[in-house]
Amino acid sequence: MKLRNYQNDDETAVVSLWRRCGLLQNPLNDPRKDIAFCLAGGHGEILVLEDDGMVLATAMVGQDGHRGWIYYVAVEPDRRGQDLGRRIVAAAQARLKAAGVPKLHLMVRGSNTRVVGFYQRLGYMVEPVTTMSRRLDGVPLPLGHQMDDEKVVVTYLEMTERPSLRRLVPKVPRHALLRTYDMTVAFYRYLYDAVGQPWYWTDRKKLSDPELAAIIQAEAVEIYVLYVGGVPAGFYELDARNMPDMELAYFGIVPEFIGHGLGSYLLSQALETMWHHDPERVLVNTCTLDHPKALPMYQRFGFRPYDRREIPAPWQTADNVLDFA
Ligand SMILES: CC(C)(COP(=O)(O)OP(=O)(O)OC[C@H]1O[C@@H](n2cnc3c(N)ncnc32)[C@H](O)[C@@H]1OP(=O)(O)O)[C@@H](O)C(=O)NCCC(=O)NCCS
Repeated sequence: MKLRNYQNDDETAVVSLWRRCGLLQNPLNDPRKDIAFCLAGGHGEILVLEDDGMVLATAMVGQDGHRGWIYYVAVEPDRRGQDLGRRIVAAAQARLKAAGVPKLHLMVRGSNTRVVGFYQRLGYMVEPVTTMSRRLDGVPLPLGHQMDDEKVVVTYLEMTERPSLRRLVPKVPRHALLRTYDMTVAFYRYLYDAVGQPWYWTDRKKLSDPELAAIIQAEAVEIYVLYVGGVPAGFYELDARNMPDMELAYFGIVPEFIGHGLGSYLLSQALETMWHHDPERVLVNTCTLDHPKALPMYQRFGFRPYDRREIPAPWQTADNVLDFA
């Protein structure tokens, strides 16, 4: 087994290893650009553990004039537990130590906490710091990270005729859409947060249990829950308290289930149910904090905007109930 620096013809093997190790989940990280930038900048190097021409482990290592940093620590999945991780990290440490760097840092994604134990075995501690970042390439902040003076715009949409709906069948196996009766407050609060947390849904969080129960258990309010594999994956809430207007009051998919075409399915089901009540208008609103595809999806299904209003962002109001900032 040989420890060496990355060579140009390693690119395919290294990128493939990183992909198989789950290190390329952020589509904004282009591994080829990262490699080129690291090597061109003169601040970093990429270490490779090779055996018989096979790249088995990597670490990108460098320093910023103050601290050392390690990125892209990866070990071939079927060669784990053989000390290769320890060896590649030790090699990175040795490079930094030789360069006189007194301390090194590394970042573990929130979704990869399993790996914390590995670094702890190697003598690393979890730092009590908040890591902050800012893009310099013009890529906008992800939703949910807006600034204090961000304007929130609500678009109000209506549909005055029953659309011709295609029958959509979700591609996921083992799904079920069930209407709830006398929904419990605790289950509703769970669903509301599970779906709405990334989009700053807060209105219902301001209600007491009895206030909330009065709405969700009202006869004119219908709540349908989508289950995938027995797990709640989304819901919609229909409000017929102001008939002949019927409102799609809440609608959403739990983040883990986004990207499987369930949104279109759920919306078509919601519309089917609503038009069954024979309303004059079907209403929905969506704001700029919602998923960016929400507005185009409503329009695709036949909703037409009839009003737009600016409202304060949830974190700007005095009765702010955000508990997940
Ligand atoms: C993390 C990773 C590099 C570990 O590689 P590895 O070759 O299996 O690790 P090693 O065999 O060198 O393990 C060293 C020690 O850490 C321990 N360890 C390894 N993975 C661990 C884990 N997930 N949790 C707790 N301990 C772990 C080993 O048991 C061993 O302990 P020991 O001191 O008792 O011998 C590898 O699992 C990997 O490539 N993961 C995917 C990529 C990744 O998440 N990289 C980190 C990005 S921040």
